[in-house]
Amino acid sequence: MVFQICFVAFILWLRASSALDDGWNAEIPRSIVGLSGSCVVIPCKFNYPSDGRTHKEFTGIWFNDKSDIIYHKEASKIIRTFKGRSSLGDLRHNNCTLKISSLQHSDSGSYKFRIEIKDFNKATFSKNPVSITVKDSPDLPTISVDEEVTSQKEVTATCAVSHSCPSDPPRLTWSHKGIKTSDSQPQKDGQWKLTSSLTFTPSREDHNKPLSCSAEFTPAKTASNNKKLKVKYPPYNVNVQSKSQVKENESVELNCSSDSNPPPDSFQWFGSTGSLLENRSTYRLNHVTRYTEAISCTATNTEGKTSSAPHKFNVLYPPEIKNGSSCESQTFVVCVCIVDSNPPSEVKWLGPSSAFPSSSVEQNGSLTIFTLQGWLGFPDTVHCSASNSEGNSVMTLSVPHHGLVIYLAVATAAVVVILVVISACVAKRRCGRRDERQNDQNKMKTIQKSCFDREKQKRNDIYINQDNQRVCTNYECNDRRLPSVPDENEAVYANT
Ligand SMILES: *[C@@H]1O[C@H](CO)[C@@H](O)[C@H](O)[C@H]1NC(C)=O
Ligand SMILES: *[C@@H]1O[C@H](CO)[C@@H](O)[C@H](O)[C@H]1NC(C)=O
Ligand SMILES: *[C@@H]1O[C@H](CO)[C@@H](O)[C@H](O)[C@H]1NC(C)=O
Ligand SMILES: *[C@@H]1O[C@H](CO)[C@@H](O)[C@H](O)[C@H]1NC(C)=O
Ligand SMILES: *[C@@H]1O[C@H](CO)[C@@H](O)[C@H](O)[C@H]1NC(C)=O
Ligand SMILES: *[C@@H]1O[C@H](CO)[C@@H](O)[C@H](O)[C@H]1NC(C)=O
Repeated sequence: MVFQICFVAFILWLRASSALDDGWNAEIPRSIVGLSGSCVVIPCKFNYPSDGRTHKEFTGIWFNDKSDIIYHKEASKIIRTFKGRSSLGDLRHNNCTLKISSLQHSDSGSYKFRIEIKDFNKATFSKNPVSITVKDSPDLPTISVDEEVTSQKEVTATCAVSHSCPSDPPRLTWSHKGIKTSDSQPQKDGQWKLTSSLTFTPSREDHNKPLSCSAEFTPAKTASNNKKLKVKYPPYNVNVQSKSQVKENESVELNCSSDSNPPPDSFQWFGSTGSLLENRSTYRLNHVTRYTEAISCTATNTEGKTSSAPHKFNVLYPPEIKNGSSCESQTFVVCVCIVDSNPPSEVKWLGPSSAFPSSSVEQNGSLTIFTLQGWLGFPDTVHCSASNSEGNSVMTLSVPHHGLVIYLAVATAAVVVILVVISACVAKRRCGRRDERQNDQNKMKTIQKSCFDREKQKRNDIYINQDNQRVCTNYECNDRRLPSVPDENEAVYANT
């Protein structure tokens, strides 16, 4: 124990005395790596022995192993290949940091620093050479994120990449949306670590998808990396799977399918009333009928449970002609055939000698309603013959005829009687009118003739008067009386 303490003390003394020995020393990394096209910063700090004075004029020189100056405050002293690419820290603050921009392959090599202090002394730090390595491709970024994340629960992933150019760091981008923060920290040997944190909410769509991070370095150099996300999520897309069709009275096997991570650890099957039927991923129904209720399944995993939509069976069965099927006769004969079947049936109406097409077909659920309309000459019975892929069925419907015939006979007779009466009346009235008119014309002719005769006869008569005209135009005059009327009574007659 005592020996160990003494040994450590001795080492410390050695180091301290060597540093203090001549007072000249420098802290420079032994080696540094830079990316071609990017920059490299060689951190450097030097010390010189104190002589109690403050020195203000320094000359710092960096040179390669062929003694070519790669940095000098007098640019003319710098070799052509480094002109404009090198810069130095503030020597008055003991800062001899060298920055080389637009790094090239030929920059690889060993470099040393020399300091000249005006009116004091000069020194070359030969024991502290730095070896620069120029590489072509950047390091890959490293991604860290939890092995397994949970959907809808916020998580933070980080992406880190090292670089050597703090004044122009790479840009980190993520493949996933989220809130980003970044941070750059110096590492040893002139390297920097740029870290980007992404806080996001994963969803089930992200499961098994790569989360990638890209580092874009300025001269079009990109390095990407990715990590597959493992997202836990409750069952999703839960579905009942079965044959698309099942014949009535056959058995059917149902599977409950779902998408989840981890896989479901249990399944339940429920009837439409919510009763538990089975507790496994498959369920067998031995006897499916057209009345079998819809069934749903529920899948459960560590993240939750989800139910499927109710599964209704497509049960195939032959046609069944329902009791409501019948014929009625009112104005027309109307026959209705109600068929329950799946798939829907075809129906033929068959009379004793011929078949009739349905006048209308109406579908309502599994029921198909076929209607036949007829008029006179309808048979006494018709057959409704229904068939589908599963079978066929026939029902005989009787047509209540007599009511229709009597009704039609009475109605027709009534119409005929009415028509006869009406036409008789019309004819009668037309004839009466014509006779009257003929009589009138004859009367007129007679009157005119008698008037004309009288006029001729009495032209020279003293009794000629104007009333003669009135007599002739008077329609109602009685011609029978005209010839016997004495001339002297003319005026009297005209006044009646
Ligand atoms: C030295 O100078 C460089 C370049 O000017 C600067 O980036 C760095 O921060 C300085 N180092 C110290 C320790 O001041
Ligand atoms: C149900 O699952 C079993 C086993 O995976 C499979 O053999 C069967 O074909 C599936 N049935 C249906 C209707 O998907
Ligand atoms: C269903 O089965 C699972 C495991 O198979 C069991 O843990 C659970 O208790 C069962 N549920 C019922 C209601 O039987
Ligand atoms: C199914 O079975 C029932 C009862 O035994 C029977 O009434 C029905 O006609 C059967 N269905 C078919 C399509 O065979
Ligand atoms: C249908 O009619 C038949 C015979 O007319 C009868 O036996 C049966 O009970 C009826 N069914 C219904 C559901 O009305
Ligand atoms: C279908 O039938 C149901 C009863 O069975 C009835 O309430 C409904 O109105 C019908 N729909 C049509 C469009 O006829």
